Amino acid sequence: MAVPPKILTNSDLEKMVDTSDEWIQVRTGIRERHILNDNEVISTYAFLAAKEALDKANLQGEDLNLIICATLTPDYLMPSLAILLQKELSAVNAGAFDLSATCSGFIYALVIADQFIRSHPDWKILVVGAEALSRKTNWEDRTTCVLFGDGAGAVIVTGSKEEERGIIDFILGADGSNWPLLTLKGGGSAYFPFDERLPKDEYYIKMQGREVFKIAVRMMEKLASEILERNNLKPQDLALLIPHQANMRIIEYLREKLELPPERVFINIQRYGNTSAASIPIALYEAEREGRIKKGDIVLLVAFGGGFTFASVLLRW
Ligand code: UT7
Repeated sequence: MAVPPKILTNSDLEKMVDTSDEWIQVRTGIRERHILNDNEVISTYAFLAAKEALDKANLQGEDLNLIICATLTPDYLMPSLAILLQKELSAVNAGAFDLSATCSGFIYALVIADQFIRSHPDWKILVVGAEALSRKTNWEDRTTCVLFGDGAGAVIVTGSKEEERGIIDFILGADGSNWPLLTLKGGGSAYFPFDERLPKDEYYIKMQGREVFKIAVRMMEKLASEILERNNLKPQDLALLIPHQANMRIIEYLREKLELPPERVFINIQRYGNTSAASIPIALYEAEREGRIKKGDIVLLVAFGGGFTFASVLLRW
């Protein structure tokens, strides 16, 4: 994983909008978030995360067959973030594309990688979740600007002779009926560049938080329960649950519903805020580093995001 060194604390935000450290901590669990400096780009951090993943796997860029980047904030619309990584990693044998599935993007990308591995078990696939949400944040809107952060996480997916390891099951879902609750309209092709019909605040992420919250809580619980049930597993069989880090209260609700003790649920939202597609790979990285997942453990990843998209993956580490 890699995050920009610059940290924006809740007390920094107190000086920017009408908010308080207490409100942010109580309502979201967030204390601080990492954000890009004005002259930085998120591909730098996607590259650092990818390079570390390759080094840990003893691989070079040229060993990669495919690069998938989950992001809604690539440096450019063209070329994609995956292409920038392909160049920087000298991944001369890899195809490369970006995937847009908001906060569920990393799980979507992981599931796609898994499908390729099933037909080409010797392939090495780089899956990255990277976001620069600070660039799409309206710093005058207190209802959203306290939530988001920047960062990147990466994994290498490949075949294993140990058959029981890997992805056991997944759910990929979507519900477009509520899309106006969470949007980022500016920059898309519905409007011309600098189109006067589009209000300026539409160039930033807009969210009806309370409505999204209600749906997210229900959906996260449904995703987790469904995938466990159909695999004849109980929540207690999980070594670790790694949920998308959008709001501490959503995670706590999920934990209570599943009757899991705090040590079985990974939470790092305090330090990063919501980093969308980057949140799960960053959490996965920290969980492994802290020794909270070991070889053979059953781990559940669950995410929900704008669109809406939702996804879960049950895996044996
Ligand atoms: O990652 C994609 C999925 N995203 C999510 O799942 C996020 C879901 N939503 C949330 O996490 C929460 O809804 C928020 C954290 C965004 C908001 O928390 P909430 O408990 O739902 O608050 P609210 O929107 O109901 O607002 C409560 C009050 C309002 O004041 P009134 O109307 O009660 O007087 C807001 O104006 O808090 C006010 N408020 C704030 N006050 C201080 C809203 N934002 C702030 C703020 N500081 N930053």
